[in-house]
Amino acid sequence: MTTDSVHRLSGEFFQNPHAVYRELNAKGPAHRVEFPSGMNAWLVTGYDLAKEVLTDPSISKDLYGPPGEAAQINGNAALRLDPPVNDHMLYCDPPRHTRLRKIAMRALSSSTIREFTPRIEQIAASLLDAMAGQEPVDLLRAYAYPFSVSVICELIGIRASDRNEFQDWLTTQVSTADVAEKYAAAANFEEYVHRLCEERRGTGGSDLISELMSPADDGDRLDQRELVGMVNVILLGSQETVAGLIGNAVLTMLCQPRLLGDLRRDPDLIPAFLEETLRFESSGNVATPRFTTAPVHLGKHTVGSGQIVLVAPAAANRDPDRFDSPDDMDPSRPDNRHLAFGYGIHRCPGSSMARTESRIALTHLLSRCPDLSLAVDVEELKWQPSLISRGLLSLPVRLGRS
Ligand code: HEM
Repeated sequence: MTTDSVHRLSGEFFQNPHAVYRELNAKGPAHRVEFPSGMNAWLVTGYDLAKEVLTDPSISKDLYGPPGEAAQINGNAALRLDPPVNDHMLYCDPPRHTRLRKIAMRALSSSTIREFTPRIEQIAASLLDAMAGQEPVDLLRAYAYPFSVSVICELIGIRASDRNEFQDWLTTQVSTADVAEKYAAAANFEEYVHRLCEERRGTGGSDLISELMSPADDGDRLDQRELVGMVNVILLGSQETVAGLIGNAVLTMLCQPRLLGDLRRDPDLIPAFLEETLRFESSGNVATPRFTTAPVHLGKHTVGSGQIVLVAPAAANRDPDRFDSPDDMDPSRPDNRHLAFGYGIHRCPGSSMARTESRIALTHLLSRCPDLSLAVDVEELKWQPSLISRGLLSLPVRLGRS
C-alpha cells in the first residue's frame, strides 16, 4: 500500500453516507479508508473509475482462493465468510464464475419472472389485506420484508411452514454468531436444500430448483455443493435488497408531496420513479469486496497486490462528474445509467426480478392506501449500520383510508 492518508469513517457514516461520499468525490475517485469495524480498504467513489474496476480482470473476487487469503493476511482477518456454504458465484472468478453464472441466468430468465408475476401480485395484495386497520405500522416489517421473502421462497419452493426456521439458518450463517453456531445453521440449511432437490428431481417442474438442477446446453450441471451455494446467494442477494429498495422508495415519495401526487394519479410513472430511486437511494451501499492481484492505478494512487478494493455504487450514482444535480430526485432524468445493479461480469442477474417485484409492491401499496403518510419525523428514522446494505431499520407509516 502507498503512504496515502487514511480516511477513517465513523459510525455516523451509515446514517448519511452521501455526505461522506460528496466530500470524498470532491477530492478524487479513490480513497484509502478504514471502516468502523477496523477493515482497511480502497474505496472507489467515482463513476468512471467504478466501471473500470468492475471490469478489470486483474481485480479478483476469489474470496476463498489466494487473492482473498492475501487480503486477509494484509490486516483483514475477519474478511472471509465462514462456513464455506458462502463459497458461491459472487466470490469467484472465471472460468468457474462463467459456468455458474450461465446456469443462474437461465434460472432467473424473463420467462420465469413472467410466469410468476400473477403470484407476486397476489402476495402483495394479501399482505396489504393483513395490514388493514393496523395504525401506525412498520412498513418494512409488515410489508416490504415479508413480501420479498415470500416471493423468493415461493419461487424456490420453500414451504410456508418451514420459512421461519429456514430464514434463521440463512441469516445465522452470515451473521456475527460464533463459528460453531454458524456451522450448525449452515448444516441445517444444506440438508434442507438437499431434501428440496431430492423432492424435485425428475418431476420436470419449472420452479427455480428444478431449473438450477437441469443441465446447461453443453450438458454441464451443478454438483450438490454448488447447488446449495447457488440457492444461498440467490436468497441472500434478493431479500434485503428488494425489501430495502421498497422502503427507500416509499420514504423518498413520502418526503416529496408533489411526486407522491403524480405517482398516485399516474401509476405508469412508477417504473421511472423506481429507476431513479435505484440511482438516488438504492438498497445497496458498497458492492462486495474485490482483491488486487497486481499493482493497479486507482485515480492518482498506485495500489499494490493483495489489497481490498470496494466500489461504492451509492457514491458513483451521485458523482457530479457523471450526473447533473446528483442529489436531486428526478424521475425524468435522461441517460440514467446508474450502477445500482453493479457492472461487468458480476452485474446482478436478478435485476429484472427486482424491478418487477418493487413495481408490483409500490403499485399495490399506492392504489390501496392513497393517504399513506409517515408516522414519525423523517429525522427520527435510523439506517442500518451496514456497509453492504442501505436500508432503514424501520419505517413507521399511517395507512389512512383504504
Ligand atoms: C433492488 C434489488 C437488488 C439490488 C440493488 C442488487 C444489487 C446487486 C449488485 C450491486 C450486485 C453485484 C455485486 C458485486 O459486484 O459485488 C448483485 C449481484 C447479484 N445479485 Fe443482485 N440485487 C438486487 C436484487 C437481486 C435479486 C432479486 C436476485 C435474485 C433473484 C439477485 C441475485 C444476485 C446474484 C445471484 C448476484 C451475484 C452475481 C454474480 O456474482 O455474477 N439480486 N446484485
